[in-house]
Parts: sequence; structure tokens; C-alpha cells
Amino acid sequence: MDNLRLQVFIVLMQIKSAFFVQSSPSVGECPNTDLPEYAFIGRSNVGKSSLINMLTRHKGLAKTSATPGKTLLINHFIINDKWYIVDLPGYGFARCGKKERETLSRMIEDYIIRREQLVNLFVLVDARLKPQTIDMEFIDHLGAWKIPFSIVFTKCDKLSALALKKNVNVFLDSLSEHWEQLPPWYVTSSERGTGRDELLSYIEKINSTISSL
Ligand code: GTP
Ligand code: MG
Repeated sequence: MDNLRLQVFIVLMQIKSAFFVQSSPSVGECPNTDLPEYAFIGRSNVGKSSLINMLTRHKGLAKTSATPGKTLLINHFIINDKWYIVDLPGYGFARCGKKERETLSRMIEDYIIRREQLVNLFVLVDARLKPQTIDMEFIDHLGAWKIPFSIVFTKCDKLSALALKKNVNVFLDSLSEHWEQLPPWYVTSSERGTGRDELLSYIEKINSTISSL
């Protein structure tokens, strides 16, 4: 019985195909489809595109860079012909001009608020840092907009297990000041593949509640 369960678990985790579909400059130009979408958001350079490559095991699928501000459009990737991963531009990119920053913010906000296919937003936060005001404010907005989200701590390979635990707890404590119930949260490293199974299981769980799939 245990073996059977284990096999089912492994089958559920498979990503059989992952393809880039399109880059869109606005929510109105996103793919015309009713398949569910999982979008990845967070500060510029936090590791959104790297995480997508790690989840799909497809290096180079989403464009990454050591320089912040690499992703500037709404990028759709179709997974197993059934659901989408969406790579969004980062927020709070200090080095681009005020006007460009506002345009990006509007693009992200419009997508989050208007995209009905969006079933869950993964909010990425850098596990090395203390809670950042910009992340906390963004998460507060999600509450006001009633957007389902989860927290993904990134770059966990860059700190000790002890420091990671401490930072995660400080962040969750800070969230508790605004939220009665904590959202699901995950600890990840795109370098090491940490958190892949957990994130894919979570997505699979949500997908299984969607009757059209
Ligand atoms: P923008 O598109 O510019 O908003 O950035 P992004 O959030 O998509 O970040 P990206 O995936 O491009 O990664 C930024 C930098 O962080 C790159 O140099 C990555 O190699 C590095 N990086 C991302 N994830 C990890 C990780 O888990 N561990 C380590 N060590 N480095 C990471
Ligand atoms: Mg990116």
C-alpha cells in the first residue's frame, strides 16, 4: 500500500512538457484561454525566473540575470498542456526611471487584479533579508484585492539552516501582525532544487479542485 502511494506521489510530480507561449505588455494581450495560471512575483532579482526554470527542470526557459530588471513583460509558459506558469516583472527596481517603474507597477497590478485565470500568486521573498517594507505593503494589497497567494522564500542555499529558520520566523511573525491566518509558505533554492516537490504538489492539489482539468 505504501509503495502504491509512493508511486502515485511521484507520478503527480511529473512535468512532461514546458513551453514558452508569449510575452505580453498588458493583461489585455495575454493568451486567450481559460486554463489556470500560477504567477510568480516579488522584488526584482529575488529569483522568480530561476525558480520557474528549477520547477520545470528547463534551464533557460525563463530568462534570468544577475542584474535586476531582466523580466519586463508578462511571460506565459504552458505546462503539460494543462496549466500556465506566468513569470512577471519584479517590483521595486530602483535603477529604472520613475515612469518605467510606474508602467511596470501598473502592468503587474492590472494582471493580478483582472486576470480571472490566476488561481494562485507565489510571492517570492529573499530568505537572507529581514522583512522588507515593499514586500509587506505588496502583501497587504493582495489582501485588499482578495488574491489567493503563498510565500516562497528564495536563495535558501545562501544562508545557514539556523539563519534561515530565524529569518523565516521573523517574516511569518511580521505577517501575523496583519493576517489572522498565515498563507502557505515554502522554502526553496533554485541552485539545489529545494522545495520543488512541495511547490509542485501544492499546484497539483489546486489543479485537482478545478473541474475543467
Ligand atoms: P527580475 O526578472 O530582474 O525581476 O529577476 P528575477 O526575480 O527573475 O531573478 P532571476 O531568476 O533572474 O535571478 C536573479 C539572480 O539571482 C541570478 O543571478 C540568479 O542566478 C540568482 N538566483 C536565483 N535564485 C537563486 C537561488 O536559489 N540560489 C542562488 N544562490 N542564486 C539564485
Ligand atoms: Mg525574471
